[in-house]
Amino acid sequence: MHVPVLAREAIELLCIRGDGVYVDCTAGAGGHSALIAEQLDSGRLIALDRDPEAVETTRARLAKVDAHAEVIHANYAELARVLADLGIESVNGVLIDAGVSSMQLDEAHRGFSFQKDAPLDMRMDRSQGLSATEYLDSVDPDEFVRILRDYGDLPRARGVAGKLLARHGSDPIRTTQDLAEAVSEIFSFVDGEPEEVRKIFQAIRIAVNDELRGLELGVAQALDSLAMEGRFVAITFHSGEDRIVKNLIRGLSKPSRILHPDGRVKETVPARMRNLTRKPILPSVEELQQNPRSHSAKLRAAERIH
Ligand SMILES: C[S@@+](CC[C@H](N)C(=O)[O-])C[C@H]1O[C@@H](n2cnc3c(N)ncnc32)[C@H](O)[C@@H]1O
Repeated sequence: MHVPVLAREAIELLCIRGDGVYVDCTAGAGGHSALIAEQLDSGRLIALDRDPEAVETTRARLAKVDAHAEVIHANYAELARVLADLGIESVNGVLIDAGVSSMQLDEAHRGFSFQKDAPLDMRMDRSQGLSATEYLDSVDPDEFVRILRDYGDLPRARGVAGKLLARHGSDPIRTTQDLAEAVSEIFSFVDGEPEEVRKIFQAIRIAVNDELRGLELGVAQALDSLAMEGRFVAITFHSGEDRIVKNLIRGLSKPSRILHPDGRVKETVPARMRNLTRKPILPSVEELQQNPRSHSAKLRAAERIH
């Protein structure tokens, strides 16, 4: 079962009111959702996940908590539409806990893990988009270089991308083991788990699920949906994700200027958000020991003030 990361910190920063409306954009195994639901009395929890299996798991978990909770199969990039469909104009708190869950990584058939052999799929929602193998069939070579460099933080990405696509052309990469082997051959690893395998799996997963574009849309809509004094909390696991959250919060946490056509200031609009985390909150030493998967987590939070 997935262990919720930075759970105490996230719940504290959400400042949950018993009668409030809260959205957990990334239900996963329902860990954070259950902690939110436990604090509600007349309030309401909307939990979303783009993975139908996570929706079922969270539904079962929340059925045991006495709270008004709805679990919806949706991409948080469509948060505004989901809230409009539910007739909700504003909410008191939104949580995004980005990335993949332990269930997705651990269930071999999902094709996320280099430690388990399975068809190379990696989609969080298998009813949409291309599997990772289909992605490799069609990706533009220059785009693949960018993906490996930006999403996998891989040095010498151009050479690696060229070799991987050449290998896929002559001996197609269809399974997680095919990909792990292809990477190991490039880096001449004899055994063990080379860091490059993890990085390349991460990069392809982020691309296949279009994770960064979804995050940018989701964070913007989450901040927009907040009622006055509403809280936003985001937990991310990759530098590209953290940058998106940091920049969107910072942008709304300072006054903006509306200019006349000649450049003179027409109006200064006060900051909409208060940044609650100038530096991101990281897992404690105890959490890192108990849950090594929390190691790259960063939490940022903001409050609607205008
Ligand atoms: C780290 S897990 C969340 C774990 C959860 N907080 C818990 O305590 O069990 C991330 C979850 O977010 C989901 N997810 C990732 N991107 C999403 C998106 N754009 N829209 C909705 N769900 C998404 C994944 O399917 C996965 O289940």
